[in-house]
Amino acid sequence: MHDQAKALRQLVSNAKRKQSKMRVIAVTSGKGGVGKTNLTVNLAIALAEYGQRIIILDGDLGLANVDIAFGLTARYTIEHLLSGEKTIEEIILTGPQGIGIIPGGSGVQELANIDRDKLTNALTNLGRLEKMADILIIDTGAGLGHTVMNFLQAADDIILVTTPEPTAMIDAYGLLKTLRQEAGEVPIHVVINRVRSEGDAQATFKRLETAVLKFLDGSLDFMGWVYDDHLVGRSVMLQEPLGISFPESSAYRCIQWIAGTVTGINLSPPRQAGGVRGFLSKLLRAF
Ligand SMILES: Nc1ncnc2c1ncn2[C@@H]1O[C@H](COP(=O)(O)OP(=O)(O)O)[C@@H](O)[C@H]1O
Ligand SMILES: [Mg+2]
Repeated sequence: MHDQAKALRQLVSNAKRKQSKMRVIAVTSGKGGVGKTNLTVNLAIALAEYGQRIIILDGDLGLANVDIAFGLTARYTIEHLLSGEKTIEEIILTGPQGIGIIPGGSGVQELANIDRDKLTNALTNLGRLEKMADILIIDTGAGLGHTVMNFLQAADDIILVTTPEPTAMIDAYGLLKTLRQEAGEVPIHVVINRVRSEGDAQATFKRLETAVLKFLDGSLDFMGWVYDDHLVGRSVMLQEPLGISFPESSAYRCIQWIAGTVTGINLSPPRQAGGVRGFLSKLLRAF
């Protein structure tokens, strides 16, 4: 394990000891562009609907865009926190449902590779998060960089996002392989995004699981899937999360279902053609 990961873990566990138990969930992927930010933002909304207090840490270095997804503009980032210029309360943005957003910016790399002299300041500031949230969701960058790996090692749970596309699957497998070696104790939950049907989702997970069982040790947890839904693109254009713009969309209903799993509520998976149309077609099929 990297030294920096130890520091980060200390940071997280210190924060935990101070109060009850803020859960830290890292959302990650092997390949970029598979839907991490969309899942993070809408999972936050769905969890907030379940009464959870949520803070998102925008940890994607290259494409920090959680604030944009919420239609917000970051004035200050983690960088200002680490330099001591601003406090956590001053950099945090507030989105719908009281969701807190911590813009990462270039300070993210620093945070994940924090050095001793800055650790204390970061600890006191980030420790205060514990009073503000039940769950901290980290939208990590894609891939196998040290920064991403340090976040993943420090998390309580990892959500690995992939699409059924072969390139995304290969990169997901690559990341799983590294995670087994470097973050062996952290539970990994797989979400298959942009599926055409439940069958598509099951088959895709099976492919990944087969490779894991064959070439790596241990099992894989299937957390759920999200349908490919053109309303996701619409919400991106609107700069408003799907759960706000299109709460009835099939993609958001999947994310609500996943949020249920996160909170321990057991819901059945949503069907793709839901609503009146789905009801009517089911009814017609029954006759
Ligand atoms: N379930 C989905 N259905 C349709 N389009 C999606 C879905 N999830 C993500 N997308 C599209 O894929 C693009 C990348 O998603 P994003 O969440 O930014 O990925 P990442 O954060 O992994 O780079 C977005 O422009 C979004 O419109
Ligand atoms: Mg992203």
